Amino acid sequence: MTYKSAHDNHPETAVALIPVKESELEHWQQTAGPEHTEWARRNGFKGRPGEICVFPDTTEGLRQCAFGMQKEGWLGQLSAIATKLPEGDYQLHSDWGRHSRLQASLGWGLELYRFSRYKKNPAPKTRLILDSDIDDDVRALCDAQNLVRDLVNTPTEHMGPSQLANAVSAEADRHDASSGSITGKNLLTENFPAIHAVGRASHRKPRLVHLSWGDKDAPLLALVGKGVCFDSGGLDIKSAAGMATMKKDMGGAAHALALARLVMQYQLPVRLELLIPAVENSISGNAYRPGDVVETRKGLSVEIGNTDAEGRVVLSDALAYACEKDPDLVIDFATLTGAARIAMGADVVPLFSNHLEVAQAIQAAGDEAEDPMWTLPLYQPYRKMIESPIADLNNSGKSSYGGCITAALFLESFVKPEIPWVHIDTFAWNLENRPGRPQGGEALGLRAVFRYLQSRYG
Ligand code: BES
Ligand code: MN
Ligand code: ZN
Repeated sequence: MTYKSAHDNHPETAVALIPVKESELEHWQQTAGPEHTEWARRNGFKGRPGEICVFPDTTEGLRQCAFGMQKEGWLGQLSAIATKLPEGDYQLHSDWGRHSRLQASLGWGLELYRFSRYKKNPAPKTRLILDSDIDDDVRALCDAQNLVRDLVNTPTEHMGPSQLANAVSAEADRHDASSGSITGKNLLTENFPAIHAVGRASHRKPRLVHLSWGDKDAPLLALVGKGVCFDSGGLDIKSAAGMATMKKDMGGAAHALALARLVMQYQLPVRLELLIPAVENSISGNAYRPGDVVETRKGLSVEIGNTDAEGRVVLSDALAYACEKDPDLVIDFATLTGAARIAMGADVVPLFSNHLEVAQAIQAAGDEAEDPMWTLPLYQPYRKMIESPIADLNNSGKSSYGGCITAALFLESFVKPEIPWVHIDTFAWNLENRPGRPQGGEALGLRAVFRYLQSRYG
């Protein structure tokens, strides 16, 4: 249990968490009084970022813990200390506004996440008592982010296309939505040939997982997520190092599903359509090959320059299908390219849109949500790089330069230009442990987009 609600708690049992700015230590000393000041001095507490100083019981019976504030941001204020504190219940005593308290409290929960499916990995028993004005929001955002982490961290053996579909139907049940899958050969009869081509080599059948929810008269929001449950690279097989983390190649699907959960939980006034092409990019006698030409739902033919550029191939059918329903907005999440990491590093998420103002609004929402994103261009002259002499498109660029842009341009070919569409090339992963950001699966771009959706539809 990471959080407690204010009304579940006897306030006298909670430890008051008091933020102290290093630069304002003297001011804190004046308000804290001589006994606390002396105790803090003896403990060497200076209010440096992440430093903590626990005060013993006083005659008032109230225990306190001062902590040094981070120099910037709100999300990291409590994630830096949540696991360093002694066991017990804590309550933030600050003059911070709602946004700051919400972000800091979220950081607490993000730090206490553990993935314990395969080994005991208990988090320290520290609980934060949430003020009632932020209680629901903090829990919803934390749970959504942890859903992404759990789905991504689960190895492919336990998170193949069918298990991913199960995760979607579990979410549908929770919110009275309908869901289902078009599976295996049915992908061909229902005209999703590109999804089938990529996924047909695996003994675990490819599928298009779908979920629908909401009022039929509300504007349609289509969320699409790349669900490549494992990316071996196909016949253009990856190196061992390149393949090592490819269980996370369904990270886009995990983001789309978590976002769908938030949309339904908050009952945003939209009609939601979630689409997840779920496949394993595997190798066998019937694998799709370099040089093959794959048909797509939209009717555009795609020459396979590289079987490892599989994400854009499966997304092409899902995006074309989404656009047939004339949505108000289409958003796709995908762990689409290594090039996005080269361009932006592991923490900043690139996004693209055919309606630039939408991308910029999401980027601004990301700044507020401390979920950094950056808009990259759909630079049309680079279309040259995905031309093919024998098909309408090639799925891999002639050069690797600008690889995340050429991938985005490929996707753009499958959406209707008049429909606002956003493409998010997320990493879905933390390379190392940092406060609030455990190594492994991670939601990157989720809070930014949800914040944007709240303002667009709220
Ligand atoms: N899933 C990978 C992209 C990826 C790799 C994301 C590592 C995050 C970390 C994708 O399917 C892929 O293999 N892309 C290739 C495309 C290339 C063959 C045109 C890439 O980026 O190298
Ligand atoms: Mn690949
Ligand atoms: Zn991939």
